Amino acid sequence: MSAELVLAIETSCDETAVAIADADGLPLVSRVASQVRLHAPYGGVVPELASRNHTLDLRPLLESAFAGAGTTPGDIAFVAATSGPGLASSLLVGDTLAKAVAVGLARPFYSINHLEGHLLSPFLNPPREIEPHIALVVSGGHTLLVEVRRVGDYRLLGSTKDDAAGEAFDKVGKLLGLPYPGGPEIAKLAATGRRDAFPFPRSMVRSGDLDFSFSGLKTSARYLIDRLDGVPSGQLLADFCASFEETIVDVLVAKLLQACRHTGLRLAAVSGGVSCNRRLRERAVGAGREAGLEILVADPAYSTDNAAMIAFAAAARRKVGIPPSPLDGDIDPNRRLA
Ligand code: KG4
Ligand code: ZN
Repeated sequence: MSAELVLAIETSCDETAVAIADADGLPLVSRVASQVRLHAPYGGVVPELASRNHTLDLRPLLESAFAGAGTTPGDIAFVAATSGPGLASSLLVGDTLAKAVAVGLARPFYSINHLEGHLLSPFLNPPREIEPHIALVVSGGHTLLVEVRRVGDYRLLGSTKDDAAGEAFDKVGKLLGLPYPGGPEIAKLAATGRRDAFPFPRSMVRSGDLDFSFSGLKTSARYLIDRLDGVPSGQLLADFCASFEETIVDVLVAKLLQACRHTGLRLAAVSGGVSCNRRLRERAVGAGREAGLEILVADPAYSTDNAAMIAFAAAARRKVGIPPSPLDGDIDPNRRLA
C-alpha cells in the first residue's frame, strides 16, 4: 500500500536535516547532522564550511531517513525545503536538492520559511490543531513576536532591534570563554547560580511596544567582566550565568504576556533554539498559568534547527489549501515572515 508522505530538507545554517513525515506533517523520522563541532574552533558558523558539509552530509542522511522510515521515494507525495531566511550558500544546497527530488518524482514542491517552521513547531509534538495564538520565536538569528491568525496568515508584533536572544547568549558565552554555542553552556552553569547576584539591565520591558533589544545586555556583561577583573570562575561564574539567563527570560516572558494582553489572545507558543532553555520553559508556562493563559513550548527535540518542523509547516500549508511553490523560485537569505 503506498503512503502519502512528505520529504523535507533543512539547511539554512549549520545543521543538515532531513525528515519524512505523514500527510499531517507528523514525523516518521527526523535526522539532523550537526556541524557544531566543525564550527566550534571558529566561535561561530563559517558559511563556506557549512555549505560544503551540507553537500557531503545530505546523501547519507537521506538514505538513513528512508531506511529509518521503512519507505522509498515512491511514497513521497510532496517535497519541502527551507528557502530562507538563512545563509545563502547553505540554503541553496537543501533548496536545490529538494527541487531536484520534486522534479525527479514529479511531485509538488513547497518552499518553506524557516521562521514559519519554528513558529508552528509547538503544535507538532504532542500534535495539536493550530488555532489563533501569539508566537514567540527565539533563536540564534531571530527574536519575534507574531500574531498567528491561521496557517500562512501572520502579523509581526515585535522583533529585536539588534541582537537576537540566542545571539546574546552566544556572544556572552564567548566573552566568558565558553564553548560555542554559548546558550546551552550558560544554561548549564546557571543551574547552580544565584539569579539575583548581578543586576543586568532589562531593556525595553516598559518601552510600551513589543520590540526587544539585547545588545545593551551584552555590553553590561562585558563591563561586569572588567569590574570583576576578568572572567569569573566557580560560584561567581555560576552566579553570573544565572543572573544573565534570568534577565533574558524576564524580558521574553514579560513581552510574551504583554503581546497576549495587547491582542486578547489566550494561547501562546514558544519556539526556536532558545526555547530549549529550561528556565524559559518553566517561567513561560508558570507565568501563563498565573495569567490564565495556555502557553505551549516546542518539544526540545524540535526546538533547534530540524527538518520535521519544515515538513510540518508544509503539510499545514497544504491542508489549508495554500498552493505549492514554483520550481524556478529563488532562495531568500532575508526572507520575512510577514
Ligand atoms: O533555532 P536554532 O537552532 O538556530 C537558529 O535558527 O538560529 O537556535 C540556536 C540558538 C543558539 O543561539 C543557541 O545558543 C540557543 O539556540 N540555545 C539555547 C539553549 N539551547 C540552544 N539558549 C539558551 N539555553 C539553551 N538551553
Ligand atoms: Zn532556526
